[in-house]
Amino acid sequence: MQKKLENLKKEILDQLNQAKDSAWLKNVEQKYFSRQGELSQVLKNIKDLSEDARKEAGQLANQMKQEVTERYNEVRNALEGSKNKSETIDPTLPGSDQNRGHLHPLSQTQKQLEDIFTSLGFSILDGPELESEYYNFEAINIPADHPARDMQDTFYVGEKDQPGKMNLVLRTHTSSVQVRSLEKYGAPLKGIIPGRVFRSEATDVRHEHTFLQMEGIIVDKNINFNHLKGLLELVGQKLYGPQTKLRLRPKFYPFVEPGANGEYTCFLCQGKGCKLCKHTGWLEIVGCGMIHPEVLRAGGINPDEYTGFAFGFGLNRLTMLQYGIDDIRLFNSGDLRFLEQF
Ligand code: PHE
Repeated sequence: MQKKLENLKKEILDQLNQAKDSAWLKNVEQKYFSRQGELSQVLKNIKDLSEDARKEAGQLANQMKQEVTERYNEVRNALEGSKNKSETIDPTLPGSDQNRGHLHPLSQTQKQLEDIFTSLGFSILDGPELESEYYNFEAINIPADHPARDMQDTFYVGEKDQPGKMNLVLRTHTSSVQVRSLEKYGAPLKGIIPGRVFRSEATDVRHEHTFLQMEGIIVDKNINFNHLKGLLELVGQKLYGPQTKLRLRPKFYPFVEPGANGEYTCFLCQGKGCKLCKHTGWLEIVGCGMIHPEVLRAGGINPDEYTGFAFGFGLNRLTMLQYGIDDIRLFNSGDLRFLEQF
């Protein structure tokens, strides 16, 4: 038995020392260390020996098992360490496929408009999404009893109307940044404010609690309604082509006077009437108007010296019209089947 063990040990060590790659090592492992392997078989035979012989052989076998296992581990570690050196890389093989993402369709629309406006000399301004009631409403001439403040439309954060506490809201529009920008930069000012806005509404295909707007604001000396009209017409042509016309229809917004809804000739039917424009030939795209003197005053601007106009695009609506998207909730869904189409 002793001889047998000695021989086997020699044989295994010999094999291990010859190992040059992991395939060889794998063979050695199979041949000696596996359940049916020679080492296991010899160890199994020990239990059939007489008591004395068993004791002796057992000790010997344990010792030998330890030695060969140690050597086995050494060889394996050495082979793994040199794996990178010994295994060649074929640089002509095609690389593994990497999925690259892309900009969200709303971000694409935002960038498209940012490019148009910055090319016209507008700066890009920013403001907080968590806003005071003051900037979101009061400062832009929306008094406390205005229906827009209703709990149904506005997400109030914390206690509403607690004495001594500032009421915070999730801004309901980017118009909240108008007075902030005037306070910060004064006049003249020419900027756009893209950003996320929030409404506490039951959602459906046309209503979403979170969406994107882009505000625009110009304040300078002698700015009049013609400038507003000219600018929005130019933007429409840059968006939908040189044949695009603008039509303005009166609309009330507390922070502009006069206020209007800007509509462009439908880009799909060129104004002839189709499903997209509900057979009117026009698409409602932008709210706008001359900035109310109270808003200028709130921003520290003298309305006798300066005038200006503001407008607001709904970026979700623009994107939906452009691609024929029929459910506004898809934008926030994170659904790749939707997003991968853009
Ligand atoms: N804030 C308005 C809205 O959310 C849009 C608007 C902006 C209208 C600026 C007029 C001037 O509907």
